[in-house]
Amino acid sequence: MLFTDALVLLSLLIMVFCIARYRQHTNASKGFPLPPGPPGNIISGNIRALAQDEAHRTFARYRKEYGDLVMLQGLGSKILVLNSLEAMNELFDKRANNYSTRPNFVFAGELMGLNQTVTMMPYGQEWRALRKLAHTALSPAQVKKYHGMEEDVAALLCTHLLESPERFSDHVRTSAGSLMIAITYGIPASPMQTSYIIDGERAADFFTRAIDPGRYLCDFLPFLKYAPSWVSFQRQAREGRELLFGVRGVRRRPLEQVKHEMEAGTAPPSLVHTALLSPPNDVSISQFEWRVMMVAGDIFGAGSDTTHATLLAFIMAMALHRDKQLKAQAEIDAIIGNSRLPIIQDRVDLPYVNALLKETMRWQPVTPTGLPRCSVDDDFYGGYYIPKNTTVLPNVWAIAYEPNEKYNPESFLPERFLDETQNIPDPITWAFGFGRRICPGRYLAEDIIFILMASILAVFDIFPPDDGGITQEFKRGLVRAPNPFQCRIVPRPSADLKFVQARAEQSRTQ
Ligand SMILES: *[C@@H]1O[C@H](CO)[C@@H](O)[C@H](O)[C@H]1NC(C)=O
Ligand SMILES: *[C@@H]1O[C@H](CO)[C@@H](O)[C@H](O)[C@H]1NC(C)=O
Ligand SMILES: *[C@@H]1O[C@H](CO)[C@@H](O)[C@H](O)[C@H]1NC(C)=O
Ligand SMILES: *[C@@H]1O[C@H](CO)[C@@H](O)[C@H](O)[C@H]1NC(C)=O
Repeated sequence: MLFTDALVLLSLLIMVFCIARYRQHTNASKGFPLPPGPPGNIISGNIRALAQDEAHRTFARYRKEYGDLVMLQGLGSKILVLNSLEAMNELFDKRANNYSTRPNFVFAGELMGLNQTVTMMPYGQEWRALRKLAHTALSPAQVKKYHGMEEDVAALLCTHLLESPERFSDHVRTSAGSLMIAITYGIPASPMQTSYIIDGERAADFFTRAIDPGRYLCDFLPFLKYAPSWVSFQRQAREGRELLFGVRGVRRRPLEQVKHEMEAGTAPPSLVHTALLSPPNDVSISQFEWRVMMVAGDIFGAGSDTTHATLLAFIMAMALHRDKQLKAQAEIDAIIGNSRLPIIQDRVDLPYVNALLKETMRWQPVTPTGLPRCSVDDDFYGGYYIPKNTTVLPNVWAIAYEPNEKYNPESFLPERFLDETQNIPDPITWAFGFGRRICPGRYLAEDIIFILMASILAVFDIFPPDDGGITQEFKRGLVRAPNPFQCRIVPRPSADLKFVQARAEQSRTQ
């Protein structure tokens, strides 16, 4: 039985491969060739490059050999890697009609139901409705309302770092999760909040595994989605669906809580609260609540993980580069002094700290290959043919690590962003996606990262561990976070700790 299954599978693979090869060898279209790519293996083409560790580095190297457009093919799929900001802006922005949808993920999207989230939903009317909700909730005017909350969490983070500095990664994770929960659902720091944060982390792990290229065969052989329900990947998909959208699901529980609080008249202000107050009249209440649930879940999920990863990269950079740290602290001392913690409004007066923030985002981009798009129509660009249904990956790593004679991209040099003779693209223009699918939370994200960074710099010195170097290794996955590493975080001699405690106390009692 097993043997025949294997035979059937093998013949299918060979068939898919032959069709792919045949297509590749016939004239692409109108005489335009497909973009070039590295030679591939007989069965799987060169698509396995996707599943490599640090694939973004490999793709950036391909740039030298093949140029800004690199095509990977195999198992019936075509994946176009973009290696320049110009190509990303041209396709995703100027040709948005052709490139604003997402590829279909059989496991994550169809079987697990993630095709209903704003992040992964195909472009269309429903997506635009969700997107509008997210935009309203995260407009610059709305985002201002969260400044106080962000400053509270930054003060609490400092007290946690005073108590157990070695657990800095946990503290940063809790701060990011706590802030995102408070902003989206208005749920304050409490055991309840902690349980939501833990649920959120489980969901994020599930998500990362679900879209890991090459993990699930059904993503390459879509007919496998009809496999019986006892098959392992079907069981996993069911589990994921339950975890996310079920009655006790990660997205459902906090939404229900806000609804109860609204009925009782006790709901604190939050993004979900504001949204639920003004339902549109063109859809049913239950459909509208479903949309709010999707948008809120995406904001919470996307915000927590990326903030955590960025802050860890920042701490790593500070431990490695004492000189940059001292420069940023000198700026904070001069502008803010040491009788209060930084506030978000200080940001405009702190150019070096801002450059440091940008450099952190550039040095270790949290989503180095971006999120994939899918072309809906045949297209031509740069002398190449891009067939319909090509998956397009913006390899933003190539922008971050663009060769520069004056400032080595491998080095951590905030100065590059202050040098007017250099035209280094600001990460805000590439780190948050492009065109119609650009992350609507980018203003919020920058505020949060700024306030956590500036508060840590104001109160602490960060050193490498006593017994050696810092492991610079990163997780593979959608969000590229540093693997656990050690460093020493100690209060600065000049820091007024009584003041920090008092500021944190104030946020606890609110
Ligand atoms: C492919 O296109 C080129 C250039 O347009 C043309 O010279 C050639 O004959 C075509 N080959 C086939 C197999 O159609
Ligand atoms: C698009 O490509 C994917 C695999 O890359 C395939 O599963 C799907 O059927 C294709 N869709 C169309 C409309 O050709
Ligand atoms: C998600 O996938 C399921 C299963 O294929 C499909 O029925 C549903 O229409 C898809 N939803 C969207 C929004 O594409
Ligand atoms: C996609 O691009 C092609 C070529 O540029 C164009 O003819 C077509 O209209 C575009 N499709 C959409 C949906 O805009």
